[in-house]
Amino acid sequence: MAEIVILDSPNAAGELVAGAITDLLAARPDAVLGLATGSTPLPVYSALERRVRERDLDLSAVRGFALDEYVGLPEGHPESYRAVITRDVVEPLGLSPANVHVPRGSLEGIATAGDDYERAILAAGGIDLQLLGIGTVGHVGFNEPGSSLASLTRVKTLTAQTRRDNARFFASADDVPMHCITQGLGTILRARHVVLLAFGSGKAPAVAAAVEGPVSASHPGSVIQLHPHATVVLDEEAASELREVDYYRYVWENKPAWQRI
Ligand code: PGA
Repeated sequence: MAEIVILDSPNAAGELVAGAITDLLAARPDAVLGLATGSTPLPVYSALERRVRERDLDLSAVRGFALDEYVGLPEGHPESYRAVITRDVVEPLGLSPANVHVPRGSLEGIATAGDDYERAILAAGGIDLQLLGIGTVGHVGFNEPGSSLASLTRVKTLTAQTRRDNARFFASADDVPMHCITQGLGTILRARHVVLLAFGSGKAPAVAAAVEGPVSASHPGSVIQLHPHATVVLDEEAASELREVDYYRYVWENKPAWQRI
């Protein structure tokens, strides 16, 4: 069972996860991070940025692998995840661009892009800590409902709901690409530590199904139940539909001081 941590605010969640990443980097400055896009991980990146500024945290040796990318956007499109990762992560945190990988979403070579990405992750020694958001449809990465629990990086078709959810970054939902390339659920399961964040009441049903529902390809987020080291970090609203919320708080409040997330 994943560890469930319920905090007052996204900023508190960002601090907690930035702390875990700081500890990881103290042990291994060239650790491999799995990077998520979307609104959810931004508090983590902001908290890391503060640490880079104030406490001399150095991420220049970190290696990064993004979860996913749109297929078919023109190179350099501001909403391509390559551009988003550059803007939100690489530049503010001082990562070396050459160390940060994003699945290749250009149509040319798309048939082999998934296998190439898997090989690159393996060559880096695997992902140490994978950040995840969760979509209102229950997706993690762009693994939409129906994704194989054993899937590896490949091309997927976005649901109409995901395209609506992401329309805020484009002129309209119709401008959101139809296809994406995403790490698979099997890829995510190979990461050594998975940290899923979710904030706001809109995510509460997806979180409850992922944490307490049956493990099912119909709810891809439920794959975290198969992971030996998964941490779910929520604000009160995102936790509001969990049944065992008192127990999760009790476990967190009584967590040994020496034990980290
Ligand atoms: P969000 O997206 O962080 O922008 O809410 C999460 C997701 O779709 O996985």
